[in-house]
Amino acid sequence: MAKSEAKGGKKSTPVDLVNRSGKAEDCSEHSAESNAHEHNCSHAEPPATMKAREDSLRKLESDLSKREIGLIEREIKVLSLQQEIDRLRPLSGLYRVIKAMATERKLESMLEVITRETASMLRCDRCSVFVLDAHHGELWTQVAQGLDGHRTIRVPLSGTSVVSLCARTGRTINIPDAYSDPRFDPEVDKSTGYRTNNILCVPMHNRNGAVIGVFEVMNKDSGTFSHEDEEWLQALAAVAAGLIEQAQAYSEIEHFVDKTVETLAQTIDKRDPLTAGHSIRVTRYSISIGDAMAISDDEKDVLRYAAMMHDYGKIGVPEAILWKNGRLTPEEYACVQTHARLTYELLSNLPFTNRLAQVPFIASCHHEKLDGTGYYRNLKGHEIPFLARVITVSDVFDALTSVRHYRNRMNIVKVFEIMESGRDNHFDPEVVDSFYGLPCDRVMRVMESERGSQIPEEVDLFKNISWLRLVELCQGSKPKRQEEGLKELFFRIYNANLPPDYQELD
Ligand SMILES: [Fe+2]
Repeated sequence: MAKSEAKGGKKSTPVDLVNRSGKAEDCSEHSAESNAHEHNCSHAEPPATMKAREDSLRKLESDLSKREIGLIEREIKVLSLQQEIDRLRPLSGLYRVIKAMATERKLESMLEVITRETASMLRCDRCSVFVLDAHHGELWTQVAQGLDGHRTIRVPLSGTSVVSLCARTGRTINIPDAYSDPRFDPEVDKSTGYRTNNILCVPMHNRNGAVIGVFEVMNKDSGTFSHEDEEWLQALAAVAAGLIEQAQAYSEIEHFVDKTVETLAQTIDKRDPLTAGHSIRVTRYSISIGDAMAISDDEKDVLRYAAMMHDYGKIGVPEAILWKNGRLTPEEYACVQTHARLTYELLSNLPFTNRLAQVPFIASCHHEKLDGTGYYRNLKGHEIPFLARVITVSDVFDALTSVRHYRNRMNIVKVFEIMESGRDNHFDPEVVDSFYGLPCDRVMRVMESERGSQIPEEVDLFKNISWLRLVELCQGSKPKRQEEGLKELFFRIYNANLPPDYQELD
């Protein structure tokens, strides 16, 4: 209101004001109505009254001027505050970017913040970070802000897009009017349905000066991208480049460690063809349970390494005992049991980072039981780490549903009975229930990977029922709609390629 009064409102004059008072009007301008009802005007007012009226008018005029000045001053203040906010906007954005770098560990989350803040700082519609995949000769969006639906865009490095040109030349490209610039290819808009007005692209370089990606902003809210915008984007691109390079190096190391751990685990599994793949399957079951129980990303990493390495100590158990066809003597069984301690001792030699420090302990607890009758530390209940309780369930399930020297895959109803009998004394009931709740197709995909061949396509038909529901069907529960035939199909898949002398032994 103050704004319109000060800016657009008609200014009041002292005469107007006098008229409003109804006393200083000229009689000739009186309306007929006024004349009829009041005709008190006098052409010969006493001087004292005139003086008082003039004083009052002057005071009114001065009050009004003060009010107008106040309004104008307030307006100026608002304008300068807005200018100050505009001036500080990039700085506050930069503050949030730095904060994200300090608190976020995942590259994608960091880039999300960077692109969001960049779009706000530069006041533009779209902001994307393209990463160069030199192997495939293309650039793909690690993060695209302002893009609905399909989040990943892939453009060939040799293509006609401005992003490709920026990556090839390694130079900043600022196009104020896309459709009148020969460097812009309108076909890009045709394929996306987006109308490009202006573009600013900045290359991202690694420490060796090689281009590793492109930072692109599009469609400035008003006007075109300025030289100052270029400088801001170059600064942010340098930050993003550092993060991407660091994340790529980190992921290469992580991949190397993952593969090393997997290979180490397989050296154990491969000693005996019948247990081949056990560690990987236990890991996959464990991760599925972990996902169902919403464990954190850090816990998931610990779980993955611990599950993968849980039987590593078997390297110290003679093959004659591991491969024995028949019951083990008490001495032989004691020897097998040493593998849990050995797992701990061997893994403790590895320089796990703080985040993974619990891996050796958790891996070595997979034979502990809730009631304290397990080995090798005879831990009880919550003394057993939660992630170890997850591995225990996966380990037993895989052992029962895999072929062994002395028996074939166990009937799953029997498997269920064994798991139920271990509830509360061997297994953590919450972990068991989470396992039962897993989608049946997910369990079957892990289970069937034992055969080393392709997973049958029919496994997909089990995606709408849980593992527990499958067990119920196998126990004789009446199939609901869309469950008909699943029991028979499961048995066909589970028992495929059985040897002629197959026996369901315990
Ligand atoms: Fe084991």
